[in-house]
Amino acid sequence: METPAKILVGVTGGIAAYKTPGVIRRLRESGHEVRTAATEAAFRFIPEETLAIATGAPIHTDETWWEHSGRVEHVTLARWAELVLIAPATADSMARAAIGLGDDLISATILAGAKNVLWAPAMNPEMWKSPATERNVETLQSWGHRFVGPAEGFMASTEEVPGVGRLADEAEIVAAAEKAISDTR
Ligand SMILES: Cc1cc2nc3c(=O)[nH]c(=O)nc-3n(C[C@H](O)[C@H](O)[C@H](O)COP(=O)(O)O)c2cc1C
Repeated sequence: METPAKILVGVTGGIAAYKTPGVIRRLRESGHEVRTAATEAAFRFIPEETLAIATGAPIHTDETWWEHSGRVEHVTLARWAELVLIAPATADSMARAAIGLGDDLISATILAGAKNVLWAPAMNPEMWKSPATERNVETLQSWGHRFVGPAEGFMASTEEVPGVGRLADEAEIVAAAEKAISDTR
């Protein structure tokens, strides 16, 4: 991509969060300016320090959101980001966005007018196939949000048969992010 973009990576609380530093590193290697936000649940799966090192900057969290810094972080992030990429996206985070909740920094940023949103879901195949998730994905798509994945394969959990629910590959996520940016420039 010719001109680098400002990308906010939102990390939510799924097992695949351990893969997000790889996505962030690839985006930065491609010249993009990356900031990262994470939910409280994300830190159950990936240390904040690991995300901060991959990003090369402190992480935006629900704690920094309430720091009394005089900044309204969800508004400044929504204005700053050319693309909000949620990777991994939990079923929960998509549900919150689809019903318009803003009770954490990432969903509030989406609600505060994020221009371009790309979801990279990762979850158990049954969660992905559930009518609730299907309806939420349809709602988000109807607003112009994009999706990359989930992919088919074996899950990190105890499933013995492959299913659809794995986080898309790093390269696929980066390609989808760059396409979302170039389509909207
Ligand atoms: C061990 C464990 C693994 C989980 N893995 C996933 C997952 O891969 N995808 C998902 O959508 N939810 C998963 N969840 C459920 C989410 O962590 C839960 O819905 C949480 O509220 C998500 O919060 P967030 O969307 O604010 O990050 C998992 C929960 C646990 C305890």
